[in-house]
Amino acid sequence: MSRSAELAALIRSRAGAEPPRLGLILGSGLGHLAEAVRGEAIDYADLPGFPHAGVSGHNPRLVLGDLEGVRVAMFGGRAHYYERGNPAEMRLPLEVLKALGTESLILTNAAGSLRADIPPGGLMLLADHINLSGANPLIGEADDARFVPMTEAHDPAMRAALKSAASAEGVELPEGVYCWFSGPSFETPAEIRAAKVLGADAVGMSTVPEVILARFLGLRVAAVSVVTNMGAGMSAEAISHEHTKAMAPLGAAKLERVLRRYLRDLA
Ligand code: HPA
Repeated sequence: MSRSAELAALIRSRAGAEPPRLGLILGSGLGHLAEAVRGEAIDYADLPGFPHAGVSGHNPRLVLGDLEGVRVAMFGGRAHYYERGNPAEMRLPLEVLKALGTESLILTNAAGSLRADIPPGGLMLLADHINLSGANPLIGEADDARFVPMTEAHDPAMRAALKSAASAEGVELPEGVYCWFSGPSFETPAEIRAAKVLGADAVGMSTVPEVILARFLGLRVAAVSVVTNMGAGMSAEAISHEHTKAMAPLGAAKLERVLRRYLRDLA
């Protein structure tokens, strides 16, 4: 049995066999939503091979259960490329999600905005992304399956449903392009100016490898950024991880309303 099949069996034995309809990965400072799920919580530490998710502001647990009448699998924390230099850190969790029978995934993250009309506290739906990191989680993959098409990687139907959920909640959810920098250092002002020229609307240190892996595994995927700050050099505020964690709850409350409505619409 593959490692993901073994872990899926272990998870089913604890949380029940019904496949989750949706997987969710919660970004920095957004882990609170996992507490709203009624179901079984499993520490990553009890799932051999799961990442250690050693970034403060994350809650490394998988919660399976009901939210707004939909069975979900919520990942309270993610591992990042910058932690150990491995862009495929989230491969096993996503393989397990697939093995559980889930077909769709929503990713969330904290991000810096490059657009004055998407200020801190605002949300951005990823319409597309730019991989500026030079890394790819599929490097080393042996066969032709590695040549994953990335046109419409961000699922149009899921995006439409998220936009309609946001509009029903009166939450602004503009679409934009997310640019992946490896981190962990923040960008320089020159890098932010360069990202703008390249067509980015927000910058961050995650999500893109998971989008690539999700498409590789045949999961439909959409992603939402919670803006915690303007990009480096764009405002007087100092950028820091402390600031990210402090600001995330502002947008997180809006994101929670959008996600809850999205799930009610699914149910
Ligand atoms: N840059 C990269 N990642 C981030 C930022 C940022 O400005 N804010 C939150 N995550």
